[in-house]
Amino acid sequence: MSPLRQSLRKARRALTPQQQLAHARAATTHLLRSPWLQRPLHLAVFLSTDGELDTRPLIEALWQRGGHTLYLPVLEHSLPHAMLFAPYTPQTRLTPNRYGIPEPAEGPRVPGCRLDAALVPLVGFDATGNRLGMGGGFYDRAFSCRLRRGENGIRQKWGRPRLIGWAHALQQVERLPAQPWDVPLDAVVTERGILTFRH
Ligand SMILES: Nc1ncnc2c1ncn2[C@@H]1O[C@H](COP(=O)(O)OP(=O)(O)OP(=O)(O)O)[C@@H](O)[C@H]1O
Ligand SMILES: [Mg+2]
Repeated sequence: MSPLRQSLRKARRALTPQQQLAHARAATTHLLRSPWLQRPLHLAVFLSTDGELDTRPLIEALWQRGGHTLYLPVLEHSLPHAMLFAPYTPQTRLTPNRYGIPEPAEGPRVPGCRLDAALVPLVGFDATGNRLGMGGGFYDRAFSCRLRRGENGIRQKWGRPRLIGWAHALQQVERLPAQPWDVPLDAVVTERGILTFRH
């Protein structure tokens, strides 16, 4: 693993349970107030591990509010490093995948590009919306539709799905090199607020 990935993962794991809880609550408040969540969405979330900013308070609040359809990532075994999304409700039965992360045991599997928006886990991000993930290329593949350009060669301005990074503020770094396959983020939510990016 790259030294940058390693040090960022170590830093987020070093947060205390109290800091983790405070960050998750603050980030949840920021996102719930954002204009993006004010209409019903098909929205992918994820279950946090490895010191990631906890998504639990957000998921509970969204279930309580109602209106949105939430999804969780599911590994697709027929293709290497492929990921689809399955609906997630309080009744969904979860089963650990090969990385030990719980995923819906049954239900329809939907390609990421059919969703309205996705909450995206990350190891690092920079001030222009470049994202460093865990290194599997899962999110880059699942949302590669966002890299397609219009007929004039210009990337569509209001691309869907909207990709919203979910991270601790300490995961921001000066500058990340972007590879051609890297899908940039539209925004990042941290405990400090929401950063939005133009591409
Ligand atoms: N759309 C794609 N098609 C084919 N291969 C891809 C695609 N996107 C990424 N990859 C491959 O995935 C590998 C890992 O990519 P990268 O290092 O950007 O992962 P990451 O963004 O950190 O991971 P993740 O998206 O899982 O969080 C790269 O070797 C890259 O070639
Ligand atoms: Mg990448």
